[in-house]
Amino acid sequence: MKRNVTYDSLRDFLREIEALGELRVIRGASWQEEIGALTDVLQHDEKAPAVIFDEVPGYPKGFRVLVNAFGGKRQNIILGFPPDLTKVQLSDNFLGEYREAKASRLPFEFVEDGPVFENRLTGDAVDVLKFPTPLWHPGDGGRYIGTGSFNVSRDPEDGWINVGTYRVMIHDRNSVGFYISPGKHGRIHRDKFAERGEPMPVAMVLGCDPLTFLMACSAIPSGVCEYDIAGAYRGRPMKVVKGPVTGLPFPADAEIVLEGFVQPGNARAEGPFGEWTGFYGSPGDDAPVLDVKAIYHRDNPILVGAPPQVPPGESSRSRAILRSAIIKEDLQKAGVPDVTGVWAHEAGGSRMLLGISIKQRYPGHSRQAGHVAAQCAGGAYAGKYIIVTDEDVDVSDLGELIGAMALRSDPATAIDIINKAWSTALDPSIPPSKKKEKDFTNSRAIIDACRPYHWKDQYPKICLPDPEAVKRVKEKFGKFLA
Ligand SMILES: Cc1cc2nc3c(=O)[nH]c(=O)nc-3n(C[C@H](O)[C@H](O)[C@H](O)COP(=O)(O)O)c2cc1C
Repeated sequence: MKRNVTYDSLRDFLREIEALGELRVIRGASWQEEIGALTDVLQHDEKAPAVIFDEVPGYPKGFRVLVNAFGGKRQNIILGFPPDLTKVQLSDNFLGEYREAKASRLPFEFVEDGPVFENRLTGDAVDVLKFPTPLWHPGDGGRYIGTGSFNVSRDPEDGWINVGTYRVMIHDRNSVGFYISPGKHGRIHRDKFAERGEPMPVAMVLGCDPLTFLMACSAIPSGVCEYDIAGAYRGRPMKVVKGPVTGLPFPADAEIVLEGFVQPGNARAEGPFGEWTGFYGSPGDDAPVLDVKAIYHRDNPILVGAPPQVPPGESSRSRAILRSAIIKEDLQKAGVPDVTGVWAHEAGGSRMLLGISIKQRYPGHSRQAGHVAAQCAGGAYAGKYIIVTDEDVDVSDLGELIGAMALRSDPATAIDIINKAWSTALDPSIPPSKKKEKDFTNSRAIIDACRPYHWKDQYPKICLPDPEAVKRVKEKFGKFLA
């Protein structure tokens, strides 16, 4: 199915979802407790609307916070598909269109001016505390202004622009801290600047259209700018302005942007933060600090919040759609044939439990699929369990997936373990002693729940009725059950 992305800016998108009855406004909720707690409730309810918090006590009317924008069927609209597609249909359709966008890429275009410059704050006027940033989780080490956001940075060697979502915590009116896991593209840029002993320019976009945000938090290949994929996917190039302080490009219609520099060695305690694993991560370790030199914002700015939470919730549901598609693409590109299904399960934070189904073609096919899924670009970071099944299992259905593992595999022979795999300090199962040594690796279990290839023909037959018989009895007797 062809995509049709009908909106450009965040505000266009909000108008669309409002017309569909998918947006509410709540006035008077406090940043200290009420917005965070209510967001947790909303994000855990698949049917809940997006909400704009306005008139936050202590802040001017119009300085707003948007949450739950990516929940429910809004994800379909964001990706340009009808609301009635199921999550698997959405993921599969996205994959076809994403492939085309990745192949065609539409370079971003500079424009002279844009709504983001409606308000420019520099010098003493810089004040990050001007926005009603909530305390998202009660144990957070600070107020996280960057959750539904992204950082723009440039590789100091070859100049490629990366756009990536990394959490951002307020220290004071003109400094914020940000955490990037080792191996992420923004981290590689940052490490390169640190090795050179040079300040790193960064622009932080704290509210933008949801398609660009989704690209920013997806594993787009290194060397490719997420703006160019978002532009190609939308069918219109991203319109960006040049940051007056850093020269970095950011969307002309962004809601709020911080611009500044990370000085080499400048780090401060950041965290803990309630993470996508459902646990607090990074207990106040030092993280680099951005000295904010300028703030730009639209009139009546909207801070976009996408705080992680105990899975499954809005963020893991939303991530599952894109990550499942990207892993499927990686498997196919790596030459694994006949992959019939991939699902990055919401319950595992859409990273730690992958279901893969294949139509087995040769001995070793199932292990190949599992090992590649465990180590491909889309699946390598922070994975844990990869269950590979035959094609008759719907791996997007948690019950079917776990049932196939339990019923079809023999533990002593079905499980391969990979040690020392790429994980993160946020992984709650890494013991403190290992974290102290900065060893943030974990292991992977590849669970082969396929019928063993060499005796699959002797595998017991499944005791399901003939599908034709099911159809017939439904037609004949269904009226008695309605
Ligand atoms: C709401 C949200 C917050 C995130 N926060 C972080 C973070 O603090 N640090 C991090 O390394 N990755 C974080 N991620 C994951 C990255 O955005 C993701 O891995 C992305 O692919 C990184 O971009 P890159 O591939 O260009 O490095 C977050 C994702 C989401 C959806």
